[in-house]
Amino acid sequence: MNEQQRKQMSQIRTEKPADVKSDQDNLKRIKNKTSDEFMQYFQTNYQPPSLRDAKKRGKEDVKVHYDFSIPEDLSNLGQGKKYMIRTYGCQMNEHDTEVMAGMLEDMGYQATTETREADIILLNTCAIRENAENKVFGEIGHLKPLKMENPDLILGVCGCMSQEESVVNRILKKHPFMDLIFGTHNIHRLPHLIKDAMFSKEMVVEVWSKEGDIIENLPRSRKGKIKAWVNIMYGCDKFCTYCIVPYTRGKERSRRPEDIIQEVRHLAAQGYKEITLLGQNVNAYGKDFEDIDYGLGELMNEIHKIDIPRVRFTTSHPRDFDDRLIEVLGQGGNLLDHIHLPVQSGSSSILKIMARKYTRESYLELVRKIREAMPEATLTTDIIVGFPNETEEQFQETLTLMEEVGFESAYTFIYSPREGTPAARMKDNVPMEVKKERLQRLNAIVNRQSKEAMEKYEGAIVDVLVEGESKKNPEVLAGYTKRNKLVNFRAPKSTIGEIVKVKITKAKTWSLDGELVEEAAEVKR
Ligand code: 5AD
Ligand code: SF4
Repeated sequence: MNEQQRKQMSQIRTEKPADVKSDQDNLKRIKNKTSDEFMQYFQTNYQPPSLRDAKKRGKEDVKVHYDFSIPEDLSNLGQGKKYMIRTYGCQMNEHDTEVMAGMLEDMGYQATTETREADIILLNTCAIRENAENKVFGEIGHLKPLKMENPDLILGVCGCMSQEESVVNRILKKHPFMDLIFGTHNIHRLPHLIKDAMFSKEMVVEVWSKEGDIIENLPRSRKGKIKAWVNIMYGCDKFCTYCIVPYTRGKERSRRPEDIIQEVRHLAAQGYKEITLLGQNVNAYGKDFEDIDYGLGELMNEIHKIDIPRVRFTTSHPRDFDDRLIEVLGQGGNLLDHIHLPVQSGSSSILKIMARKYTRESYLELVRKIREAMPEATLTTDIIVGFPNETEEQFQETLTLMEEVGFESAYTFIYSPREGTPAARMKDNVPMEVKKERLQRLNAIVNRQSKEAMEKYEGAIVDVLVEGESKKNPEVLAGYTKRNKLVNFRAPKSTIGEIVKVKITKAKTWSLDGELVEEAAEVKR
């Protein structure tokens, strides 16, 4: 690590009370008795991750590292031991969990789903809304007795919450029995951090507030053999005024196209049937390259030629969704015409205060262009209700937009203030009761539109990628159509992992029932 990196790194260790790992009575006594001393220590020695620093986007180049490896002395640390990772939040976190699982398995750890069996438990956290954070703090509370029983258990918090100074402070102050906190830019350091947590009596805290490099060649233990996630970029520079992500995930930085293409080819060769290209704002892909003029459209055009049946991407920002991408998506083939296009609000004035940098009209124009190139495209979205000072009229504009676009599904949220973001400092005159009532009214429309979209499939034959047994009934299999509709049907288990034709017999609000067909003349997607 060079001097500059050292400076960019927040203070990495905080002292942990003595004998934590060997004496549980001592543990209890120290935690209760010395928490003030403990805090005093932090206040003088610990510099928390800073949202203000995160907001300053530096000019220095993003470095791509190809030299990741687990040093020999760490590669056996997990022999005979078990790990568990609880994942909260988005697909990016799910995929980070696969990377951490890959590293842990390379160190000899085996996965377990039993907390009591685990030698290390990591909480991979989400900071997007307050309730996501509350869940994690609840879980930390539940884990305390396990730590009391087994002081050798390593408990860690990682993911977006660990990038927030208030969260780190709260863990330090209220949950000093935790062993490890590490940030979203420190994932590749996990083997070292585990060693530190095992062998030192201190709580290990490593949260880099630097903007993040790209680490290639990380191991991955993927969750399944049918669908895979592929990161194409990290971070976000959009700074929507309500959103914590640009602060917790660093600046926008794109993986090199050749690295992505190689990963997709490899997945295709391994027999994966579907990949989802991942990024907080995938439409900004390539904007940070200084040597080549290359965007998501070009990347999709390359991936289009790879022999993998289904390619999705998420999440899109309407602002950066350009004509080249629309043209490439119009080619169809393995590029699926389901587009998740978060709109957040139907009111141009709310969009302005959200700093989304598009209007209702320009969003509708984008939808028109997408539909022109992909007449059958399914559109889904994210919507926030109850943004500070949202009026009934502005909310009505969201309802009318929902209908005008004909979204087939939507993730809907009540606005949640996030400390350090501009919106959290805005005065808000909308009572929570009103926000809840708006959410219900919106959801009624979302449900109706979803049901109507499902009904159009009745009697049609669709291609379904069979993922496995349905959650409710192991006799029934479940899979998704190209347009991301969940289909339940009876078929031999041997079809799992295959794309089969299914005739839709019944539409429900969120899923379709169907029956397997051998041959079909015409297939609706
Ligand atoms: N409050 C509520 N919803 C939010 N989202 C992001 N930040 C907030 C917030 N502070 C929603 C947006 C985004 C989705 C991932 O989460 O709709 O698209
Ligand atoms: Fe958050 Fe906006 Fe970036 Fe999406 S585009 S991650 S909502 S700041």
